Amino acid sequence: RDQDFVPALVVGTGYGAAATALRLGEAGIRTTMLEMGGLWDTAGADGKIFCSMLEPDHRSMWFRDRTETPLATFLWLDVINKDIEPPFAGVLDRVAHPGIDVYLGRGVGGGSLVNGGMAVVPERDYFERILPEVDADEMYGTYFPLANRELGVNHVDPEWFETTEAYRYARVSRAHAHRAGFPTTFVPSVYDFDYMQRETAGEAPRSALDCEVIYGNNYGKRSLDKTYLPAALGTGNVTIESLHRVRSFRPAGAGYAVEVEQIDELGEVRAVKEIRCRHLFLGAGSLGTTELLLRAREQGALPDLDESLGEGWGPNGNVMLGRANHVWDPTGAEQSTMPAMGIDNTADPDHPVFAEIAPIPAGLETWVSLYLAIARTPERARFAFDAATDTARLDWRAEQAAPAETAVRSLFDRINQVNGTVYRHDLFGGTRAFESSFTYHPLGGCVLGRTTDLHGRVRGYDGLYVTDGALIPGSTGVNPFVTITALAERNVARVLAEDVRGN
Ligand code: FDA
Repeated sequence: RDQDFVPALVVGTGYGAAATALRLGEAGIRTTMLEMGGLWDTAGADGKIFCSMLEPDHRSMWFRDRTETPLATFLWLDVINKDIEPPFAGVLDRVAHPGIDVYLGRGVGGGSLVNGGMAVVPERDYFERILPEVDADEMYGTYFPLANRELGVNHVDPEWFETTEAYRYARVSRAHAHRAGFPTTFVPSVYDFDYMQRETAGEAPRSALDCEVIYGNNYGKRSLDKTYLPAALGTGNVTIESLHRVRSFRPAGAGYAVEVEQIDELGEVRAVKEIRCRHLFLGAGSLGTTELLLRAREQGALPDLDESLGEGWGPNGNVMLGRANHVWDPTGAEQSTMPAMGIDNTADPDHPVFAEIAPIPAGLETWVSLYLAIARTPERARFAFDAATDTARLDWRAEQAAPAETAVRSLFDRINQVNGTVYRHDLFGGTRAFESSFTYHPLGGCVLGRTTDLHGRVRGYDGLYVTDGALIPGSTGVNPFVTITALAERNVARVLAEDVRGN
């Protein structure tokens, strides 16, 4: 058997990649997944796989000497970020682009390792507006339910929610929202709420209750390395290579030749390999997939890629903000890092916003209510390939966040007014109340139905597919990973039926 050939190659191990690999494996197709980040399965000297947010170490960030959290200061003091060494293949990356920084997970499981676990299906009318050519009956009847099942989505017990100290912060924000006339809703999660109850009862090691989230959760979270990826490996047809970074690819024979660098955890290149495949599935995320395709076009390997490549990128309207509560309204020293509630003002025709009520994992009382709001705006940017740095660069301008901030302000001005509260201006490094210079939700770059056909097949090249958040044009109105997973499930079902079977 030719060691350097595999029928299907999947780049990345995030949501789109993992769903795709499982279905390929089930169909009997030998598949290799290549992931530039590490395999997070081995405990460090402290007995834990991941470090906590209160004591970050080299495991926290992707080749940095200091952590870079979004909530950067408290009372304007630089007390949150910490020096770390050595620069290491840590689990959270922050990629700087003009006007916006993008947070990403690095490792086997992609964003699922670092995210807040909120598993939200978008409102159907908004989904239909964003991706009008996708059959919504099929998505809402088949693929969203399938994604929820496979991801292990579960719901908080409403009675426990009402009494636990861990969600005092959410109940405080709910009361403030209701007083101002805004509805709230429970948010489904991939964090195991039974486990969380046992944490709070002192019956299980703490994770959500131990300030763990953006540098990974040691327990309780059903990240992809607990769900789709072991299922894919269990088919016997899928293998995963970690610390393997795809550099480039080109058409070769009836498929593609992919150039891969194998690195070690300190970033040294240990080997350069060429792997050939018949079918190449790009699941490297909005930034990673778009960059690989742009590099292939600009360097001449795939000159016929569609002109739309790079377009339709957006930050999903992300805006973070904090409010200062009255002293009689404590939010609790012990907060679950996994949000379980959101303010749903999406029915507002002028300023539709979904605002998740976020924790402040500080381990002490702060009297702050924190939110990650998601506004629906049409602002989009475009990636262009920069040959000098060999990277894809966004042309997002900071001013493009203004419509999202206006929408979010309209919701929270009202909440502040009714409750007699104010914004916090000390949390984001400067004096601004609204932080829109980063996103957790990069979307777009290879939009479905434009750069690809309606099932993720890249236009102009057979056997080449996009499977991840790059397919979604810039906005889902809610947290995006259920949508990314469900779309990948839908697309690979068609691709297996029409393109891949029999190989
Ligand atoms: P994803 O980014 O997950 O995976 C891509 C993988 O490809 C990564 O592992 C990457 O290392 C790898 N890769 C990239 N380039 C490569 C290359 N050249 N070679 C090899 N490998 C390569 N969403 C949500 O729905 N609910 C939530 O609560 C949150 N919360 C949240 C918090 C934080 C801190 C972050 C950073 C993000 C979230 N998100 C979220 C967003 C969510 O995690 C994100 O939308 C998905 O992970 C995107 O899935 P993809 O499949 O597109 O790629």
